Amino acid sequence: MAEYVVEFGKEGRPVEPDGRLDATAFHRNHEPIWSVLQRYLAAETGDVVEAGSGTGQHVVCFARHAPDIVWWPSDLNEQHLKSIAAWRGHSGLGNVRPPQRIDLSDPAWCLTPHEGSGPGRLLAIFCANVIHIAPWRVAEGLFAGAGRLLRADGWLFLYGPFKRDGAHTAVSNAVFDSSLRDNNPEWGVRDIAELEKLAMGAGLHLVEIAEMPANNLVLVFGRSQAA
Ligand SMILES: C[S@@+](CC[C@H](N)C(=O)[O-])C[C@H]1O[C@@H](n2cnc3c(N)ncnc32)[C@H](O)[C@@H]1O
Repeated sequence: MAEYVVEFGKEGRPVEPDGRLDATAFHRNHEPIWSVLQRYLAAETGDVVEAGSGTGQHVVCFARHAPDIVWWPSDLNEQHLKSIAAWRGHSGLGNVRPPQRIDLSDPAWCLTPHEGSGPGRLLAIFCANVIHIAPWRVAEGLFAGAGRLLRADGWLFLYGPFKRDGAHTAVSNAVFDSSLRDNNPEWGVRDIAELEKLAMGAGLHLVEIAEMPANNLVLVFGRSQAA
């Protein structure tokens, strides 16, 4: 059965003294995810927000791959915000901004400038393993923010398990979905068609579905027309 984590650092895994948390799944998924993102981002400059950064390992990893991009991590959970800040400090990278507390269920969520500057209109928003472990209004808020904040050539990347046309793509995802819903009836593996409806409302459309290991996908959404 697929595992999920609501709060990192609660499952007895070692926590570094500086607050850095470790997500087991990060070690399996960061390379496949970057193999998709790099096709859109590698030659670009601009600002990228990570929504629901968790431990902060992805944002630091991707910022190392793309030094010309300024990365803006965020989360809701205080321990996670501390972990993100610790990974940022540990990395020594100058292109990762301090983590911000963002609640995606607020459709008006936005970034606070860092030392008086940025971010501009966003090159991208990346969000991994969040919208199925959160109420539907979090997906709604995520897309609302993408519609407001992405630049004309911007991208929204979603990583995780998804249903296609109402059906699970693997038995393990169906079992995972049941376990999520047992834990919280507002959670659950989301259907790509339902996400496309949110995208349409935000002026976005689905441009790519990339297969990932362990029956996960990366969904790439872009602007429906250059604005
Ligand atoms: C399963 S973790 C995934 C973390 C990270 N993206 C990863 O893939 O390792 C889900 C994350 O979403 C965050 N989250 C949950 N609800 C949220 C909300 N309403 N707004 C922003 N973040 C939220 C949690 O605090 C947690 O860090």
